Amino acid sequence: MKKLIIGNFKMNTKPSEFKHYAMTLATKTKDTKNDVVVCPPFTHLYVAKEFLTGSKVEFGAQNINENESGAYTGEVSASMVKDLGASYVILGHSERRSKFKESDRTINKKVKTALANGLKVVLCVGENLVTRTNKEASAFVKKQLDDVLKGIYENELDSVVIAYEPIWAVGTGKVATIKDIQSMISMIRKEIENLYSAKASEKITIVYGGSVTIQNYKKIVASADGVLIGGACLNVDDFAIICRDNY
Ligand code: 13P
Repeated sequence: MKKLIIGNFKMNTKPSEFKHYAMTLATKTKDTKNDVVVCPPFTHLYVAKEFLTGSKVEFGAQNINENESGAYTGEVSASMVKDLGASYVILGHSERRSKFKESDRTINKKVKTALANGLKVVLCVGENLVTRTNKEASAFVKKQLDDVLKGIYENELDSVVIAYEPIWAVGTGKVATIKDIQSMISMIRKEIENLYSAKASEKITIVYGGSVTIQNYKKIVASADGVLIGGACLNVDDFAIICRDNY
């Protein structure tokens, strides 16, 4: 079955290093049946356009500003990244929520701006360890979904991928159990059905992220529609193996 494999570089590597990465990944994935996306920093998007266009690998940004344009020094808009050939943007990542204080309200605005500009959205949700320990993870993620999807129409969901990324699993080496991944994904599907329809719930792509590695990816990919990979995507050989696998 075809899966969606997404690499999030976070703030790692330099544009000059990314050229080699992009060329290698493009070559190694030319026969893959999966959908492959890499999201390097903004500074690398020009390189991505040059070396990934025409390959199986799509690329995206890790953030956009919620406004279309204007006096927002240091920010980057959806139309800018779209103009460079990006097809995706990651929004609602736990690092943006915690370190840059992005609220569900801001993320909701960003989702609308991204969709209006023809970008597909990888929308991250996930609970912290205290919330999980208190057995409130499902309710927490459900509320995040309700808030970030406010005002998004069912036909726009074709351009939305949900990424379940429990905060305690991001960059920690601690992976959620297969049972927890499966139960959260089915809760997310149920909530999409509540908010939209059974058809929307069936169609939506839901991936897992958090300490996915070359050692553990097989079981995880089998339990989701794909994976969102941080640290382990930086090794192009490992990432290409995950992208090329038959699921
Ligand atoms: P790690 O794979 O490094 O845990 O990061 C996951 C992530 O945050 C991807 O967006």
